[in-house]
Amino acid sequence: MNLQEVMPRLGFGTYGRWKEEGVEAILAALEIGYRHLDTAQTYDTESQVGTALRRSGLARGEVFLTTKISTENYGEGKVVPSLEASLSNLGIDQVDLTLLHWPSPNGAQPLATYLEPLLDAQDRGLTRYIGVSNFTIALLDEARSVAGEGRIANNQVELNPFIQNKKLANYCAEHGILVTCYQPIAHGRLGEDPVLVDMANRYSTTPEQLALAFELAKGYAAIPTSGKVERIRSNFAAQQLNLTPEDISLIETRDRNLRAIAPDWGPDWD
Ligand SMILES: NC(=O)c1ccc[n+]([C@@H]2O[C@H](COP(=O)([O-])OP(=O)(O)OC[C@H]3O[C@@H](n4cnc5c(N)ncnc54)[C@H](OP(=O)(O)O)[C@@H]3O)[C@@H](O)[C@H]2O)c1
Repeated sequence: MNLQEVMPRLGFGTYGRWKEEGVEAILAALEIGYRHLDTAQTYDTESQVGTALRRSGLARGEVFLTTKISTENYGEGKVVPSLEASLSNLGIDQVDLTLLHWPSPNGAQPLATYLEPLLDAQDRGLTRYIGVSNFTIALLDEARSVAGEGRIANNQVELNPFIQNKKLANYCAEHGILVTCYQPIAHGRLGEDPVLVDMANRYSTTPEQLALAFELAKGYAAIPTSGKVERIRSNFAAQQLNLTPEDISLIETRDRNLRAIAPDWGPDWD
């Protein structure tokens, strides 16, 4: 089965879900019904994810887990041991999806030097699927040529109504790469847009639910997070919201290319 058939489209982001409070929020997400958790080596939440999973009583196979390799682990002989350390933090023997968190800062290291070890890790069964994050079209072209067709299953990028990344998303659709939206609710800023607020009022919902319903309707995955149970529940309920084609088109007009996460060592965005 390919990733498109397997990955629950609404996941729970875990950046900031630290300590016991973090475990409780992740556990609440699992109790509400989320079956996809997103972590990363740099988030310091892998152990919270593992603890919440065990406390939930859910079988390992019921929850889709993503982690990401930190750029600090791209050096010679470091990628696979770092993934083994992630598995140990998570308390599992295989992650569902492993992403390269960012292209090498300032392009300092050739892509093949950190993508090839990830392909080896997949061949060894440490991860079911592999993918990338914060990759541009040019970098995806390069990754597809290093990895071979069909192996890069996912690109996780900043995407919400304020930054819709249409060119990149179209490229991913053409090449069978599932897009996962990070910051899918623009970090709680969507209420600044009167058009979204009006539309939310029409549907008796929130701008955040609108954004998530929009992203799911476009065929993307989305991974909102919150430390508040009511918001965790309300974000999950966005899956019940069906937008009309006219309202999807109206949300498309709200794109402002408003990128929140753009480190100066990052790639030249599309
Ligand atoms: N691949 C990457 O480079 C990358 C980069 C960034 C993030 N991510 C992933 O994406 C996940 C989500 O991104 P994010 O955490 O940056 O942003 P986000 O999910 O768009 O926004 C989270 C923020 O919005 C607030 N919020 C949550 N639900 C809300 C609601 N219904 N109404 C109003 N405000 C709400 C939260 O505050 P409260 O906690 O107070 O509710 C929190 O401050 C992360 O946890 C991480 O897993 C990946």
